[in-house]
Amino acid sequence: MDSTASQVALQLLNQHEGISSSTTFRLLGRDWDLLPGVYAPHLTRSAALYAEWIPYPVGGSFCEIGSGTGYLAVTAALRGCRLVHATDITSAAAENIALNARRHGVADRLSVHRGDLFAALPAGERYDVVFWNSNFVEDPGQGPGAPAGGDLRLAFYDPDYRAHDAYLRDARDRLAPGGRLLLGFTSLGNTAKLTELAQRYGWRPRLLRAVGYDSPFGERIHYQLIEFLPAQGR
Ligand SMILES: C[S@@+](CC[C@H](N)C(=O)[O-])C[C@H]1O[C@@H](n2cnc3c(N)ncnc32)[C@H](O)[C@@H]1O
Repeated sequence: MDSTASQVALQLLNQHEGISSSTTFRLLGRDWDLLPGVYAPHLTRSAALYAEWIPYPVGGSFCEIGSGTGYLAVTAALRGCRLVHATDITSAAAENIALNARRHGVADRLSVHRGDLFAALPAGERYDVVFWNSNFVEDPGQGPGAPAGGDLRLAFYDPDYRAHDAYLRDARDRLAPGGRLLLGFTSLGNTAKLTELAQRYGWRPRLLRAVGYDSPFGERIHYQLIEFLPAQGR
């Protein structure tokens, strides 16, 4: 268990719990709806990064797992993806994604789903790019002083990396031929365990992009965009 990751996650969670009513935030030159209980991307440095780093398949299909406010899925639609599916495990996030799709006029090509990872997506649908900015803290975050958190916990914590395991296990069946599997991760995550899981399911992780920032919590955090390539072939 990495105590630094736990501390940072706890502070972020507390910060998020302070957002108790619907509001808006500005990011990427646009205003976005934010509902209570949904991950607030403007509070961390990773937001603008992933929006710039993701290789959006222009004219193709894009799937965002754990879409939160949906700002990345909406951005994918605005940048020319023909079909965007955005899904999240919490109902607040699903509602939030739909709000932002309507606000930015892309509801005709962005469909919203609610469920665990790929479970709620249309059966048999495959994508050119699948992306998840994941809940990279492996610690369950239930130590002394931990706030209740509710659904917001799911934005930060993945106890035993069960969801990461399932993401790497099931993603292959959701990729179109030549499709790309991506993960937004950080240096606070358990890279060794992620690599072990990737290998278990026949993937070779490749770091596409990374940048480090001193966080407001006094820790230097490296944000990473990781691609999983088939371990054999390609
Ligand atoms: C770090 S937040 C990222 C949110 C958004 N993509 C962003 O970048 O602002 C992780 C998101 O994953 C969602 N999530 C966690 N576990 C999930 C699961 N098993 N299936 C689908 N979504 C999940 C959380 O609800 C949360 O919205």
